[in-house]
Amino acid sequence: MTSAEFDQRVEAVRRFSRFYTRQIGVLQEGLLRSPFSLTEARVVYELAHHEGTTATELGEELGLDAGYLSRILRGFHKRGLLAKERSQDDGRQTLLCLTRQGQEAFAKLNAASRDEIGAMLAELSEEEQGSLVDAMHTIEKLLGPGPEHRVPYILRPHQPGDMGWVVQRHGVLYAQEYGWDERFEALVAEIVADFIQRYDPRRERCWIAEKDGENVGSVFLVKKTKTVAKLRLLLVEPKARNLGIGSRLVDECVRFARLAGYRKISLWTNDVLHAARRIYEKTGFTVVDREAHHSFGHDLVGETWELKL
Ligand SMILES: CC(C)(COP(=O)(O)OP(=O)(O)OC[C@H]1O[C@@H](n2cnc3c(N)ncnc32)[C@H](O)[C@@H]1OP(=O)(O)O)[C@@H](O)C(=O)NCCC(=O)NCCS
Repeated sequence: MTSAEFDQRVEAVRRFSRFYTRQIGVLQEGLLRSPFSLTEARVVYELAHHEGTTATELGEELGLDAGYLSRILRGFHKRGLLAKERSQDDGRQTLLCLTRQGQEAFAKLNAASRDEIGAMLAELSEEEQGSLVDAMHTIEKLLGPGPEHRVPYILRPHQPGDMGWVVQRHGVLYAQEYGWDERFEALVAEIVADFIQRYDPRRERCWIAEKDGENVGSVFLVKKTKTVAKLRLLLVEPKARNLGIGSRLVDECVRFARLAGYRKISLWTNDVLHAARRIYEKTGFTVVDREAHHSFGHDLVGETWELKL
C-alpha cells in the first residue's frame, strides 16, 4: 500500500469518528434529562453490573483518572446512591455497590437508554439493523482490547409487573420440572401479594435478575420476626442457570440481612431441589428440620435451613 492510500484510510477513520461522535451525542441528549453526567452514567452502569467491585477495578475498567473517579463516587455516596462495605476477604479493600436508590436510578437510566437506541434502530429495516450490528461487532473486535469485560446480567429491585412474572414462572417451571400442580402457583401468588401489601423497605427486599433485557431470576428476603429473616422464591430461568445468578441472589439476601440487623436467615425448601440445596450449603446454611408432607399433588420432604449471621 502506498503512503497516499494509507493517508486516505486515516482520513476515512477520522471522518467516521466525527460522524459517530455526533451520532452518539444525539443519542446521549437523553442523558441530559437524567440526573447523571455522561461519565457518571458510565460509572453507574459499571456498578450495576459489577456489584462488590473496588474503586481501583472500576477506574481500570472505565479508563478513568483515580481522582476524578473518587470525586464522582463521593458525590454518589452523598446522594445516597452508593454503599461502601469492607471486604471480608481483604479488610483493606472497600467494596462498592449501589443502594436501592442507586439501583432504581440505574433502572431508569437503563430503560431510557434502551428506548433511545430502540428508536434509532426502528428507523432501519431488519436487514439494515443486522448489517449495522455486524459492522459494530467488527469494529469492536478489531479495535477492542479483547472480549468485553462484563457480567451478562444485573440485579434490580422489583417494579410493576414483576410479581405477576414471579407467579407465572414459578407456576410454569415447577409444573414442568417437578410436576407440581396449580396449588403451588396459588401459594406463590399469596406470598407475593403479602410481600407487596406489607412491604417494609428497611427490612425486606426483592431482587430481580435481568439478562439481555429479560427477567431471568428472583429472590425475596422478608421479615419473619424482629431477628429472623426468611429467604423465599429463589428461581432462575433454565436458560440462565449455572452462571452463578442463583448464588449471587442468595449472597445478596445474606448481605442485606446482615445490614438490616437480622441475626438469622431461615428458609423452607424440598429435598428434590438439588441445585438450590447446593447453593444453600455452600453459603453456609444448615438443615435444622425435615418433614414429610403431601403438597401440590406429590409426596415431598420439606426441609428448613438456617444461617446464623
Ligand atoms: C436453584 C436455582 C435458583 C439455581 O440457580 P443457578 O443460577 O443455576 O445457580 P448457580 O449457577 O449460582 O449455582 C448452581 C449450583 O448448583 C449446582 N447444581 C446444578 N444442578 C445441580 C443438580 N442437579 N444437583 C446438584 N447440584 C446442582 C451447580 O453445579 C452450582 O453449584 P457450584 O456453584 O458449586 O458449581 C435454579 O436451579 C432454579 O431456579 N431451580 C428451580 C427452583 C428452585 O429449586 N428454587 C429453590 C427454591 S427453595
